[in-house]
Formats: sequence, structure tokens, C-alpha cells
Amino acid sequence: MLHYTSISDISNLSTLIKEAIALKRNPFQFETLGKHKTLVMLFFNASLRTRLSTAKAAEQLGMHTMILNVENTWNLEFEDGTVMNLNASEHIKEAAQVISQYADVIAIRAFPDLKDKAKDESEIIINGFKKYASVPVISMESSTAHPLQALADAITITELSEKQRPKVVLSWAPHPKALPHAVANSFVTMMQQLEVDFEITHPEGYELNPEITKSTRINNNQNEALKHADFVYVKNWSSYSDYGKILNEDPNWIMTKNKLGHAKFMHCLPVRRNVVVEDAVLDSEQSVAIEQANNRTYAAQVVLKKILENLNE
Ligand code: CP
Repeated sequence: MLHYTSISDISNLSTLIKEAIALKRNPFQFETLGKHKTLVMLFFNASLRTRLSTAKAAEQLGMHTMILNVENTWNLEFEDGTVMNLNASEHIKEAAQVISQYADVIAIRAFPDLKDKAKDESEIIINGFKKYASVPVISMESSTAHPLQALADAITITELSEKQRPKVVLSWAPHPKALPHAVANSFVTMMQQLEVDFEITHPEGYELNPEITKSTRINNNQNEALKHADFVYVKNWSSYSDYGKILNEDPNWIMTKNKLGHAKFMHCLPVRRNVVVEDAVLDSEQSVAIEQANNRTYAAQVVLKKILENLNE
């Protein structure tokens, strides 16, 4: 693996999941693989899970980690040929090349601003680093994708499924803030590749990018979609067609114990209690959200292992 910025960077998903589960059982098996290698983690936005799990994963492989928080502090220029006489003081060309002098791998979190769809979809930060850095790049959530989260979700479903082909439902939930599509996009893409019966449910107007959902079943009736579900992944996202807008906050879309039935509840976290999901679900044995967070370590570790193996070749 050269970079990990998209699920399409995975060459064999089932093998990768098996390797991640093996690392979970024996996390220090490759503790010297990353010796004398440094992971630089750049955060343009805050994080709890991604930051700690990725650092832990790197350290379990023997890597050194350096973390740079640049939220609201670093005005990077991205355009070619611009006269930099305004706020931007550093061009991504130098920044990416300079960080590559200190890092063997660069991991980046850069959320969208949800104002300009074309700009967000161009992924200027992640793609800029891929273009100008001389080392591998990992996405720790970009404007349109959260591939480490989706890999952790696939590990969780694989570990906990009691069926050969479980039914998995992605259910939209209300939220007071406009949220990105990244988690939903990557979860959809991942489920399309996993051996599952997958369906999406959301109110009208919350259709995700059709280039991502493709032929995935979409049902605007939440109760119908949830029938016979084994895993229910609950997530808010803002409108894609009316880009970045909150069209409704219908509280009837909250996940309740009654709606969940016997399914396992999944969420990437952080989650707003009693807005997205009621306490009775989150505090029940049916919630696997904490195990998903645990699996973030092994998702990051298997990705770093693949990248380090490639570097060492
Ligand atoms: N799920 C997730 O990415 O969590 P953080 O935003 O805390 O990293």
C-alpha cells in the first residue's frame, strides 16, 4: 500500500480485515517494523478517537509520532502562481516537502467547509500533500471520506456478525449542526464491498452523492428499512444536493430501542445523546460503538503496517 486516502487503496479487503483482527490479538507482533520511522499527524480539525488510536497504532509498530495541531493557525496557499500578499504565509509545495524531511508517513485530518461542493470535492489539502510530499499520506478524515473509520466498522461487523450475510442499515439521524458526508460516504463504499445485505434510510432531500450510493437500496421509510436488521449504523449528514444545508431536524428519526429491535447499534462517535440516539440504546448491550472506537487502533495499525512493509521493500 502506497497511500491510504480512500477505500480504493485496499487491494484485498478480506485479507486486510483478517490481518487487523490478528493484530488485535497480538498488537506487538510487529513492534520493530516501524523502528526509526516517524509518523507526523497534521490536524486541521479536532479529534479524540482518530488522534489517539492512530498514535497508539503507530507506537505498537515501533514508530515515533509527532502531532501538529494547525486548526485556525496555519493559512496555507494552494494555488499555483498566486501572489501571496494576503493571509497565506506558506505554500503547500514547501509545507509538504518540508514535512517529508521529518516524516516517513504523513497522516492528515482536513474537514470540508460545506459551503462550496466543488472545492470540498477537490480535496485540496489531502491531494496537495499527495502531490507534493515525498512520503506516503494517510487520510484521518477528509472532506469526502473517512477510510480509517470505515475499515474499523468493517472489522467490527466481521467480528460480531452471527450470520454469513448480515443485514446492515445506514440510518440518517437528526442533528443541530450541519455535518459532513465523509463517514457516510466511506461506510457506504465499504458496505458495497463487504458480504452484507445493505440498505440506506434517510428523509427525502438527504440523498448522498449518487456516484457513491450507485445501486445501493435507499428507502425513505425508516421503519421498513430497519426490518430484520442485524446492524444499524446511525449517522447524521447535511444535504448533498442543497449542499451543506440542514433541511429538517425531524426528531422522529432518532434511534430508539423499539426501532432497533434486536440489531446491534453502530456509531462512529462522538454522538449527541437523545438527539441522534436515545440513552436506552447507547447504554445497552446492543451498542457496539465503544468496540468500533477500539477497532480504530487496529484499522490504523494494519494500514500503517502495509505502508511500512511497502517502504521497507
Ligand atoms: N470517529 C472519529 O473520527 O472520531 P474523532 O473525530 O474523535 O477522531
